[in-house]
This record gives sequence, C-alpha cells and structure tokens, in this order.
Amino acid sequence: MLSETDIGRRKRDHIDICLNEDVQFHERGTLLGNVRLLHEALPELHADEIDLSVRIAGRTLRAPLYVSGMTGGTPEAETINRDLAAVAGELGIAFGLGSQRPLLVDPGTLSSYQVREAAPDVVLFGNLGLVQAAQTSTDKIRELARATGIDALCIHLNPAQELMQADGDRDFRGGLDTLRRLQGELGIPLIVKETGCGLSPRALASIRSTGVTTVDVAGAGGTSWVAVETRRAAAERRPVGESMWDWGIPTAASLLAAGQTGGLTVLASGGVRSGTDVVNALALGATAVGMAQPYLKARHEGGRDGVRRLAQQLIEQIRMVLLLTGSRTVADLHKAPRILVGELETWSRQLAALR
Ligand code: FNR
Repeated sequence: MLSETDIGRRKRDHIDICLNEDVQFHERGTLLGNVRLLHEALPELHADEIDLSVRIAGRTLRAPLYVSGMTGGTPEAETINRDLAAVAGELGIAFGLGSQRPLLVDPGTLSSYQVREAAPDVVLFGNLGLVQAAQTSTDKIRELARATGIDALCIHLNPAQELMQADGDRDFRGGLDTLRRLQGELGIPLIVKETGCGLSPRALASIRSTGVTTVDVAGAGGTSWVAVETRRAAAERRPVGESMWDWGIPTAASLLAAGQTGGLTVLASGGVRSGTDVVNALALGATAVGMAQPYLKARHEGGRDGVRRLAQQLIEQIRMVLLLTGSRTVADLHKAPRILVGELETWSRQLAALR
C-alpha cells in the first residue's frame, strides 16, 4: 500500500514535470490537423442564433469545453483546482478533478477536492482509476462522490502509465465487471476516459457493453504519461520509456472509432492545443472538448485571467466556425461536411474495414 506521502510526492512531481519538462508526444500527433471543414459562404444564420450549449451527464454546458482532470491531494492542488473550477464555473464549461485516490487513503485531503465554494454551479467531474475502483466498494465511492459534490465520475484507464511506473499497477483484470457494477449501483453518471493513449474500437465496444454511455477518448498527441513516468524512472528503465514515448491512438482516429461504435456521447481530449483542434474534434463527433496541460500552463503563467483568456478565445473560435460551416448548434457541426486528409484518411478507411 502506498503511503499518503508517496502519493502526495507523486502528485507534486506530475505537476512540476508537466509544467517544466518536455513530456509531449514527439513524432506522432493527434491528427486533428488532418480535418478540413468546408467554408459555407451562404450560412443563412444570424450570429445571435448560434447556440454553443451541450448536455453532458444530465447537465448543460454553456460552451462545449472542459478542463480535464489533473490533480488533488496536496495544498498546491487545492489552489489549482479552485482557480480552474472558478473560471470554468464562470464561463459555464465543465471542470474535472484529478484522481481522488489520495482521498481514499487520507480523508485529510478532502479540501483539495472541494471546489463548490469557489464554483457553486460548475459542472463537476470526479475522478478515480479503474484499478482503484475495482478495489473499492460502491458505497465508499458514493461517499467520495457525495463529499465532493460531483455531477459525474470519470473512471480513468492508464495501463501504459502504470506499466512505466516502477510501483504502478500490473493487474488490469476485472475492469469491465467493475464498470458494470458501478454503472448498475453508483447512481451517478460515469464517464470512462483514457489519459492520453486513446480508446480502440474494441475498448469502446466493451465500455458500451457495460451500459456506460459517455467516454472521453483522451487520445495520443499531447501529454504523454509514458513520458512523464520516464522522466521519473530510474536510469536503467528510461530506454524503454523513450521507445514507448509516442504509444497510443491519435485523438482524431479514436474519435472516428467512437463515432463508429454508436450509442455514445463522446468527449475529446489528448493534445488539443488550439481553437482549430477544438472545432475539428467537434466536427469528428465530440460533444465537448477538453485540455489538461494548456489550462495548467495558462494558470501558472497568468492566473485565473490567463485561464479565462484561453477559454474565451476557444469559445470565440467555436462560435465563428459554427456560423461559417452553416451550423447553428454543435449537433449540426457533427453533420457538417468535412474532408479527411493525410494519415487520418488512412485511419478512417482502415477503421471502417475493421468493423
Ligand atoms: C493529468 N491527467 C489525469 N487524468 C486523470 O484521469 N486523472 C488524473 O489524476 C490526471 N492527472 C493529470 C495531471 C496532469 C498534470 C496532467 C497534465 C494531466 C490526464 C489528463 O486528464 C488528459 O487525459 C491528458 O493529459 C491529455 O490531455 P492534454 O494534457 O494533452 O491536454
């Protein structure tokens, strides 16, 4: 069993490494840049008609964006979570807490997850790893959800990171049974998310078979958790980490696979770094688009104002692109014509052939 100080140290390392070291994918990207939307010169819409709102887990977002779950369990995490949640609440976008595992070990960490005072109405996602969820009773998870006032619980899948971590999990069996149990018993909507390696057609179909209907593909192309753990690893393990640095399914390809699965509300994250990435992810079927590292950086460099500026720029671009593609809503953008180029076109053809 990890002690609270081990987990706290690891959480601090993760924030420091993500802010100060190169842990982004090197060669492989998200492929979100391989989407071309068609300009509509006759949109037949008034700018005031554009409706950016979307519904996730029974709540409405004013714009299709969220801050991906990052942290919790330390004093620094408390101020990060409050700042990010406050801006998210103000703008009507969603905010995700980082893994609530520290709270299972040490109830004293609760305040680092309590953002409701700073953001009373924010659409709030909790977070727990699937392996931890498998080892925890539904009642205990429900308690953790109640204590933090979350609207939905993200269950994260991160086998690549765990394998790279010296003291990481090794037993990934029983995951689907756990999802089925929580889906049946918890009474809070579940979102199953990866953490930067994407979801394959098989993983998506398996998740869907448990009754879970919301997924976050969290694909490859942005923060690499193999890279983060490689930075923390002992010298002799680093060569493996360096070879596996770019492991994963590009975010855009995973979005195509999620669209083919059917019956899913799809969230898109993993390497989203610009307004163009955001609108391209929406065009590939995402209901909302998340970023982790860019919001962390924006806060580090510019505080709450920096985060607000970043999100507002994204919102302005989404609004423009909806109108310029003749889309009144995000659901209309899902149906707008698009051209896939380059490697994404190959993924599209070969994913369709896998069905
Ligand atoms: C994360 N991420 C993450 N995910 C999760 O489900 N639970 C967690 O506790 C964390 N912790 C965490 C810390 C930090 C500092 C970062 C940057 C990220 C993963 C995150 O939610 C997201 O899936 C990936 O980082 C990909 O997004 P970006 O960073 O490429 O936008």
